[in-house]
Amino acid sequence: MSQLSVEVPSDVLVVGGGIIGLVTAWRSAQQGLRTAVVDPAPGGGAAQVAAGMLAAVTELHYGEETLLALNLASAARYPSFAAELTEASGEELGYRSCGTLSVALDADDRAHLREVHALQQRSGLASEWLSGRECRRLEPMLAPGVRGGLRAEDDHQIDPRRLAKALVIACERAGVTFHRQWAEKLSVVRDRAVGAVLADGTELGAGQVVLAGGSHSGLLAGLPVDVPVRPVKGQVLRLRIPPSYAPFLQRTVRAVVRGSEVYLVPRENGELVIGATSEEQGYDTTVTAGGVYELLRDAHELIPGITELPLVETRAGLRPGSPDNAPLIGPAELPGLLLATGHHRNGVLLTPVTGDAMAHALTTGELPEAVRPFSPLRFSVPDPLRFSVREGSTV
Ligand code: GLY
Repeated sequence: MSQLSVEVPSDVLVVGGGIIGLVTAWRSAQQGLRTAVVDPAPGGGAAQVAAGMLAAVTELHYGEETLLALNLASAARYPSFAAELTEASGEELGYRSCGTLSVALDADDRAHLREVHALQQRSGLASEWLSGRECRRLEPMLAPGVRGGLRAEDDHQIDPRRLAKALVIACERAGVTFHRQWAEKLSVVRDRAVGAVLADGTELGAGQVVLAGGSHSGLLAGLPVDVPVRPVKGQVLRLRIPPSYAPFLQRTVRAVVRGSEVYLVPRENGELVIGATSEEQGYDTTVTAGGVYELLRDAHELIPGITELPLVETRAGLRPGSPDNAPLIGPAELPGLLLATGHHRNGVLLTPVTGDAMAHALTTGELPEAVRPFSPLRFSVPDPLRFSVREGSTV
């Protein structure tokens, strides 16, 4: 076994420095726990691609009512969370309470949107049905053919890149140690997670290990439990709105066009984010001509004027999808191991509530009441021999 150095154990070792791992580390350090993060590029990952919609209302899907409660709780936490993080890091996050408009382009889209409206109303959410003319009065750049829409004044946005940068700084200021390399393997001794081995052979010991590796979470060597998270690829475009075109859009505009979701998120700094494909392609992050074409085609049907704008970036990221589209938060079956992953389409939205819940779990061993439905144990198969069935699960 290679063993170049042995570090002083931390109380908490977070494997994965995306926004979920970072918020966990920040909150953990604030609780007085000695905390370390393992990631070759902290602040990277899906947050570098995500649009940053805080869309509890307009991303409500059938069968996700339990998740809705968590999404709403996190949306409600956002203003104070953003203020606290800005204070702690000195960084603005681009939080913008702009609202969202979901529109329909044809009769089928309109029928679908009517059903969405009914679901939102049954769920007690605030959304208002508007005619096509009323939609265009709010957003004059909308295509003349828009047939109607839903105005959701509570769905806002944040800039995920700025969020990630701020979390890195807040972690550093709170005393979190960063190990800028890959975690090679989970260390398990006598059926308990006790740390991780890094790519250079360094062994990091820890009282508790948090696995927050996004869509890669299930790939960590040595895991004796299943982490049912898979990559769901999203291709995203970034355009720039020249100052002479502003205000191009006042709020997020979205639609389902021929069964595919498309959204346009205008930032205060002039960036216009257009997303996103949803593809089950394994770990491939290639930007394809087809993906870019479909996004531009659908976005152009909504807002014809986008063809005038400079296209400045195309990128693909991987959402960490779970079997029920909801996150896995809290203690895993293996003692000493906690999960913070599987946030799928809602990682940015769920960052505040995940940080709070993980700090609670790391200090008390329990999840807050509201987060218990998202325990990783909901996917567990009872099997007393489970921890000994995989070769090499201990080091
Ligand atoms: N929440 C937007 C997306 O996942 O595309």
